[in-house]
Amino acid sequence: MTVETDALGILDRHPEAGRIRSRRMNKGVATLIVDASGLRDADRSKLERELHDAASAIEGVDEVRIAMTASQPHRTLIAVGSGKGGVGKSTVAANLAIALARSGKKVGLVDADVYGPSQPTLLGSDTKPTAEDDRLIPVEAQGLKFLSLGHLVSPGHALAWRGPMATGALAKLVDADWGDAEVLVVDLPPGTGDVQLSLIQKSRPDGAIIVSTPQDLSLIDATRAIDLFRKMNVPVLGIVENMAGYICPHCGEGSDPFGSGGAEAASKEIGVPFLGRLPLSAAVRAASDAGRPPAAGDGPEAKAFADLAATISEALERVRR
Ligand SMILES: Nc1ncnc2c1ncn2[C@@H]1O[C@H](COP(=O)(O)OP(=O)(O)OP(=O)(O)O)[C@@H](O)[C@H]1O
Ligand SMILES: [Mg+2]
Repeated sequence: MTVETDALGILDRHPEAGRIRSRRMNKGVATLIVDASGLRDADRSKLERELHDAASAIEGVDEVRIAMTASQPHRTLIAVGSGKGGVGKSTVAANLAIALARSGKKVGLVDADVYGPSQPTLLGSDTKPTAEDDRLIPVEAQGLKFLSLGHLVSPGHALAWRGPMATGALAKLVDADWGDAEVLVVDLPPGTGDVQLSLIQKSRPDGAIIVSTPQDLSLIDATRAIDLFRKMNVPVLGIVENMAGYICPHCGEGSDPFGSGGAEAASKEIGVPFLGRLPLSAAVRAASDAGRPPAAGDGPEAKAFADLAATISEALERVRR
């Protein structure tokens, strides 16, 4: 280390000095390389400012150059969509996100349903997000970070947003300060409208999951959603069949209110992977309404979501290779 560079030793007094990977001083120019991994944007800027000020105050320093590195891991974006409403997208998105988090990933969840944001209810959290420098800071719940369009309006106000208002609000959620989140799961409204298109165009999901119930009517709509993602070159990771098969809690007899196996057959026909089947379960419905997501528990439903999360992680590895 030159005597000149030695002068920068005083920066060790900064509590985050451990992040300084390299320091150099040459002809009055101090150059620092700082590892900003895992820092939220606001903290990263604060650290940069503080080091800049501390270095500028050192005698002989005329100019400070700071390179903040490795600030963000690549964030994988998974869109959860469906052709038809009410098939369980939000339930699947929330529980999938929780199962992914339980498998050790850092996960964020975006509730992009303009017409009926439901994640605050599903996750049992009515905490409002804060904002810094005009950027939203997600709320933490169930081991996830999440943001909902419901956060941007007061409860009970039906969102009659269309076009630019809805897509602008969605962009605010996706571009929020997700910190070190590696995976972002986006719960879409049903169908193939503006919100879906704008997400695809602006945020380029790494993969899409289509949720369908087993009956034909739902599957026809699912095919339409798959078409949209395919046309826009978003890899369709596969179809999840939800509400397949019902075990009567009283007599134990199994029945298939919406049929069964339809999505698996359809996925073969359309040529997309079949990701798994989640049974119609009164426990899922009750726990979801009560803000206790089944994937966070230890019942058979948690196992089903953990299996689904593992299958989806593998599918993502394949498309990203
Ligand atoms: N496997 C399941 N077993 C029992 N109930 C379920 C299951 N999946 C979802 N539900 C229930 O079905 C209802 C609709 O689910 P959800 O809100 O997740 O659907 P959605 O596709 O997101 O609806 P929307 O199109 O309105 O956004 C909810 O009451 C939910 O608790
Ligand atoms: Mg929904």
